[in-house]
Amino acid sequence: MTKESKIKTLKPFLRWAGGKTWLTKYMDSFIPSEFNNYYEPFLGGGSVFFYLKSRGKIKNKAFLSDSNADLINTYDTLKTKPKELFKLLKTHFDSEDEYYKMRSTEFTDPIQKAAQFLYLNKTSFNGIYRVNLNGKYNVPYGRKNLSSIYDFEHLANVSDALKNTCLSTMDFKIGCDRVEVTDFVFIDPPYTVAHENNGFIKYNQSIFSWENQIQLAELTKQLERKGAFFLVTNAYHDSIKKIYITGKQQKLSRASNIGGIGAKRTKYKEIIISNIVK
Ligand SMILES: C[S@@+](CC[C@H](N)C(=O)[O-])C[C@H]1O[C@@H](n2cnc3c(N)ncnc32)[C@H](O)[C@@H]1O
Repeated sequence: MTKESKIKTLKPFLRWAGGKTWLTKYMDSFIPSEFNNYYEPFLGGGSVFFYLKSRGKIKNKAFLSDSNADLINTYDTLKTKPKELFKLLKTHFDSEDEYYKMRSTEFTDPIQKAAQFLYLNKTSFNGIYRVNLNGKYNVPYGRKNLSSIYDFEHLANVSDALKNTCLSTMDFKIGCDRVEVTDFVFIDPPYTVAHENNGFIKYNQSIFSWENQIQLAELTKQLERKGAFFLVTNAYHDSIKKIYITGKQQKLSRASNIGGIGAKRTKYKEIIISNIVK
């Protein structure tokens, strides 16, 4: 067994729609052999960050951001106050009554908010993050009756992995402002395509518009000019292929069960767009 294969890869600590754990098995063939700082402006469950970090690929600083403030608060609390967070998590149990009580409580303390976020993520239906027009989380109970909701050893490892990171709630355009030459930017936006009603667009349309996709393609041109490495994932679709004029485009196929109730397992074609020459 090689030293590389003995390393335990750290998995995400959240269930997250569009998570890229499936991509990590191909990751080594896509990433630059050396890079300075790491940027991930659509962090979500952070599967690629945790993969790269636990395999020693991120040697300098990691700048991790997402527009979801509750998500970033959870990462930040786990990074800076794990003991206080674990104390609260240890009081949780999985039941329908408890779920709806927790869902309807409005916490103001950031540690309590993080504990609530983790609880709902683990016990809700499919771990989906969805809010109504008033910004209230509205996903139903998952009915799992878990005897233990959290893996504290894993959470402690995640907390350690986050030590040398800079976490921010930001739009992706600002999240990439400080990128410099030889930095590596992994870009995994919500998938939206022009004029097609696929599973991705149905789920994400309200949060990521077609105009955002165009701005993102523009951003890759700026990254290229700065001399940074970028790797974008997106839906394999003509409209997406057309808006990227920098980088090489490659198709990847995978199975997915996006969509929650009524969803079926479908083959999705995804595109990787990158200026990294291997
Ligand atoms: C496909 S998910 C990322 C999944 C992640 N790579 C993983 O492995 O779990 C896309 C993320 O983009 C975030 N997002 C949506 N609009 C954004 C914006 N304008 N700027 C920054 N992040 C945004 C969402 O909150 C979501 O977490």
